[in-house]
Amino acid sequence: MQVKYNYLDQQFASVEAYLQDLRKLVASGEFTLGPFVEAFEEKFAAYIGVKHAIGTNTGTGALILSLKAVGVKPGSEVITVANTFIATVGAIVATGARPVFVDCDERYQIDVTKIESAITSETAAILPVHWAGCPPEMDKILEIASRHGIPVVEDACPAVGAKINGRFAGTFGKVNAFSMHPLKPLNLWGDGGIIVTDDDKAAEFIRLYRNNGILDRDHVEIWGVNDRLQPFQAVIGSRVLDTVEDLVEARIRNARLLDDGLKGLEHFIRPPYRPVGFREVYQLYLVTATRRDELVKFLVSRGVEAKIHYPIPIHLQNAARNLGYKCGDFPVCERQAQEIITLPAHQHVTQEQINYTLMMIREFYR
Ligand SMILES: Cc1ncc(COP(=O)(O)O)c(C=O)c1O
Repeated sequence: MQVKYNYLDQQFASVEAYLQDLRKLVASGEFTLGPFVEAFEEKFAAYIGVKHAIGTNTGTGALILSLKAVGVKPGSEVITVANTFIATVGAIVATGARPVFVDCDERYQIDVTKIESAITSETAAILPVHWAGCPPEMDKILEIASRHGIPVVEDACPAVGAKINGRFAGTFGKVNAFSMHPLKPLNLWGDGGIIVTDDDKAAEFIRLYRNNGILDRDHVEIWGVNDRLQPFQAVIGSRVLDTVEDLVEARIRNARLLDDGLKGLEHFIRPPYRPVGFREVYQLYLVTATRRDELVKFLVSRGVEAKIHYPIPIHLQNAARNLGYKCGDFPVCERQAQEIITLPAHQHVTQEQINYTLMMIREFYR
């Protein structure tokens, strides 16, 4: 049996409705920002429950603009977690700021007890990550940030649909970023990003900055870049957004089946602690396994496309050499990099495929 990691051919197997929508866009000739992008932004803002949503080229771009919008600049420091996708950190570096890492906890999320000691007079933002689609402890992060007067920017890139006690990821920080990359819960036939905020000033800055600083046809207000979301993607995203709640629920169901099925194997393979009230969207279904590398090979050889996100922590990557970190600085993150495994649990995985995955895991540890 095959249990695939990539499900996009299945998600878009029935494409006619999307093509109908695209015909309307083509007939309008509105190929740069315009009404289709605006309609999608409004729909997304209403879904999340924020005042402003602003589409960008990528989640990385959304992060860079969000950080700039809260005042991060060359010489600033931005606190983030050592286990994330490289783009979190690349976005900090792209603003000219210095990334300051803290270790993660046993939920694979930023260890909130380590944030305060990382704050300095140069700290311009805290950038917690909803890593793998799982919210970190946002209440504690907000409390520390407000005590020090530091803005929070959520890297909610993998976490469209995630919630804490009914409140969506992306509604906690001042300015927050989502990715709509193909393998994120909300996706749109290519790269895409979206920024959300309730702050009018930040929204105004981001709208200008993502469009070369152009106020109107004849007036350029600030220096900016072209980081616009493409209208055809807004059209696709709008239809996918209608399905997001269902697909998130399907992922949650699959994650529960895997969690339950792994009971009894705790000595070998363990899901993280999942506190009540935290709605994870399982952009990645992560667990910790002994003999991880052998297990991945075994599963792949049996048709289960297991992956590792990621085997080398960011502070030990060549790109991070100049940051001055070394092996041993973030022991939890470094241990997890050797133990973590991603199992397919997306919305198109069937119960039969989950059972097969579990059977193969049991066979491996027998
Ligand atoms: C945590 C995190 N941050 C940032 C990004 C960057 O998003 P994008 O690939 O859309 O630039 C991603 C996803 O790729 C991510 O998972």
